[in-house]
Amino acid sequence: VGAQGDGIAPYEGGHAYIPFTAPGDVIEAQLVKTGPAAWRGELLDIVSEGDARKSPACRHFGSCGGCSLQHLSNNYYARWTRQRIETALSHQGISGINIKSMISSPAGCRRRLDIKSLRTGNEVLLGFHARKTKDIVDITECPVAASELVALFEPLRAIFKSVLHKKQGASARLTVCDNGVSVLLGLPREPDLALRESLATFAHTHDLAAFAIDVDGFTEPMAERRVPTVTLGNIGVKLPAGAFIQATKEGEEALQAAVTAAVAGADSVVDLFCGLGTFAFAMAKQVKVHAVEGDKAMLDALKDGANHAGGLKPISTEHRDLFRRPLLVEELDTYDAVVFDPPRAGAKDQVAVLAASKVPLVVGVSCNPNTFGRDARTLIDGGYELISIQPVDQFLWSHHVELVGVFRRA
Ligand SMILES: C[S@@+](CC[C@H](N)C(=O)[O-])C[C@H]1O[C@@H](n2cnc3c(N)ncnc32)[C@H](O)[C@@H]1O
Repeated sequence: VGAQGDGIAPYEGGHAYIPFTAPGDVIEAQLVKTGPAAWRGELLDIVSEGDARKSPACRHFGSCGGCSLQHLSNNYYARWTRQRIETALSHQGISGINIKSMISSPAGCRRRLDIKSLRTGNEVLLGFHARKTKDIVDITECPVAASELVALFEPLRAIFKSVLHKKQGASARLTVCDNGVSVLLGLPREPDLALRESLATFAHTHDLAAFAIDVDGFTEPMAERRVPTVTLGNIGVKLPAGAFIQATKEGEEALQAAVTAAVAGADSVVDLFCGLGTFAFAMAKQVKVHAVEGDKAMLDALKDGANHAGGLKPISTEHRDLFRRPLLVEELDTYDAVVFDPPRAGAKDQVAVLAASKVPLVVGVSCNPNTFGRDARTLIDGGYELISIQPVDQFLWSHHVELVGVFRRA
């Protein structure tokens, strides 16, 4: 099973990549040649099941692209997630690292979903994209998601039915906060008065904490019935519409624990790509933190949370585009430790500067082992040693794995 979750079979001197297949399966597939020695396959039939296969938990598995690995036995799945990290590191010539046991989030606790919708004639499809296409797979259940979010699927379908014209699409970002669900709808047009009224009623009927719409990139609040709040390291922080938080509370706590343990003993830490302060608030119980982030609304929410927090070490903030203006060596060298948690693309330019710094401790949090491997290579070439990796699986049954890597200057 490859990095994208496809089963890989040797075929005619090359490889065939076939989604939803498990080691040991004997299958029939329709193959399409995609390269000199590569084929893509569509699974037509399972002739006999391999030992690594189990029954998937969801009726939509196999068509919905949200999950790719529900068909793998628990043992094989656990081994695969670990190997996913080992392979990404080995592609960069990194091996022999202390990779700790995976900390996994159970089913039913994903607290953030991005849902797509499309009107086709009389019907409204609502769900996730099919694997590697933009087709929307209509879903009625989602075993990985929190029940509060699944309960909104049907009401959202009804809302989209009243909003969308034929072939129009929309989206919904749903986030479970401490005090209710926050919903951000991406709509294809400005709502008229009647629609605004039904959207306000929708927020009320479903007791949403907050409800906003986004049309052409402009976000407009529709209803804020309670200030949507997430607790980060005991501090309540307002969630701006659609803002990032870690996908599960369990995953967040595992990542926080690994990061705070790594920086124990430091006096001052800079938290790069800090978001709402997932790590800043957890670390500030013991250490002074400078938090840097490119999204102004998130940074303002962090600042507000810090201003109202008691019993923490000082947290300072900086609004900065770290892709265009990474912190300079002189700036980095004023800290005992650097934490960075970039988007999936990684932090190539920032890490290149870090590699030239004298910072004794660097902690990399990543949702993409491939870009983490690349960035780890740069740090190692700059004289850092990769001490340990804590893998965290908060995207159950998907091919996404998170990790915390701890580097020390040799
Ligand atoms: C994976 S999230 C991590 C957020 C936070 N550390 C957490 O755990 O909640 C990545 C963060 O990087 C921020 N980001 C993306 N591109 C950026 C850039 N060019 N400069 C600064 N921050 C950026 C995003 O807004 C987001 O908050």
